[in-house]
Amino acid sequence: LNMQTAIETLPKSELHLHIEGSLEPELALELADRNGITLPYRDLDDLRKQYRFTNLQSFLDLYYELMGVLKTSDDFRDLALAYFGKVSAQGVRHAEIFFDPQVHVANGLDVNIVMDGLLEGMKDAKARYGITSGLILSIVRDMPIDTAQSVLDSVRHRTDDILGIGLDSAEVGYPPHLFARQFQEAKTLGWHCVAHAGEEGPAAYVIDALDTLHAERIDHGIHSVTDAMLLKRLASERIPLTTCPLSNRRLQVVNSLEELPLRNMMEQGVLINVNSDDPAYFGGYIADNYKALAGIGFTLSELTIMAENSINASFINAVRRDALL
Ligand code: HPA
Ligand code: ZN
Repeated sequence: LNMQTAIETLPKSELHLHIEGSLEPELALELADRNGITLPYRDLDDLRKQYRFTNLQSFLDLYYELMGVLKTSDDFRDLALAYFGKVSAQGVRHAEIFFDPQVHVANGLDVNIVMDGLLEGMKDAKARYGITSGLILSIVRDMPIDTAQSVLDSVRHRTDDILGIGLDSAEVGYPPHLFARQFQEAKTLGWHCVAHAGEEGPAAYVIDALDTLHAERIDHGIHSVTDAMLLKRLASERIPLTTCPLSNRRLQVVNSLEELPLRNMMEQGVLINVNSDDPAYFGGYIADNYKALAGIGFTLSELTIMAENSINASFINAVRRDALL
């Protein structure tokens, strides 16, 4: 069994995946065509040239623009099924996927259209591939807070269709505590709470997400490494970090994968898992992220620990979890 195959067959959960970030350029053009939308790119080659990012914002600009091609429930179902089809060959048994409803609502869609399509794709994925999944409603932190609140108000009756609440988009200048009210409400609905923090923002934002949002996982969180006390806390409170190596490199959070403090943090007891973030934008799906780590010297036993961490860090019930481990 070579390393590639071993990685692809390791049972794993994907816990940090923006479903809109799995929109491949080919599908974006196909949906634009299907929906009569004109994108400012001549063809696939021209579109492909846009995927050179210098920071988080330069990626978000393209990501939000291409989201405009998603219009119908069928589009969202097709998007989800394309993702699950890819990762079904990469050992993914369970996925907790973010979506950005505020952006779709700003594009004129009813949030129920979005959710119905995604949930249909998720149901099909369970039937076809045996992959279980859940939806995490992610607040887009650089849009007006009242748009986050109104999305929450419009889906709160669909309690069982949503697994959790998250927080994403431009980080610096939008500290977690700004969203304490929405997270408090989500918690009363029985939803899990996670938040992006410490990607471009400082360790202080990770602490803020723990203290004011009661986040159960931190998405990215790599800047936690600058605060020794915080690392101790993440370890002792068993707060997992959902890291995304290829994303960090493509968005120039680090200059090279070797700079990522993953081994360092694991040695200090932090529960690290590996994810793709926005696989259509960052050059690979989840197994490609594991392979990239293998490429810089992570051993199969280290990668196995990360895969086990991903299953233990998921919000599935104990019976399903034990079946996956
Ligand atoms: N960070 C913040 N917001 C995002 C990301 C990310 O990596 N991907 C999609 N929205
Ligand atoms: Zn992310």
